[in-house]
Amino acid sequence: MKRARALVILGAAAFIIGGCNGEVDEKDSEETVDAGEGMELYEDSCIDCHGENFEGTTGPSIAGYNEDEVLDAIEEGPGSMPEDLYTGEDAEAVAQYVEEEAG
Ligand code: HEC
Repeated sequence: MKRARALVILGAAAFIIGGCNGEVDEKDSEETVDAGEGMELYEDSCIDCHGENFEGTTGPSIAGYNEDEVLDAIEEGPGSMPEDLYTGEDAEAVAQYVEEEAG
């Protein structure tokens, strides 16, 4: 009898925890997908030349650039910066990330 009750409680707890996690995950991925993706893309292809804090390393500081300016730079590849590192949604995600974090 005692054991059966413990199992029921355990089952209920697992259900509640499992249910909560499902909801939180879904919400997280909807709201933060762009920022997180932008950050990853920046780290993959921009950080070497523009630095962890957008302060610039081999490339110039890009602090204060807005989304449009970053998109133009990605498309054109000014100077020794490679052009078309990203296109479409990827380019937008990086540009938004730079504007939000460094703008
Ligand atoms: C190989 C090094 C390198 C990489 C990688 C690189 N950049 Fe650049 N970037 C530069 C250099 C060099 C300049 C300055 C070019 C010039 O004006 O002569 C520059 C300029 C810029 C500018 C300023 C453009 C302007 O009009 O003044 C922005 C914004 C920028 N980069 C964003 C990015 C982003 C976003 C990424 C990643 C997708 C990236 N860069 C990757 C080297 C790099």
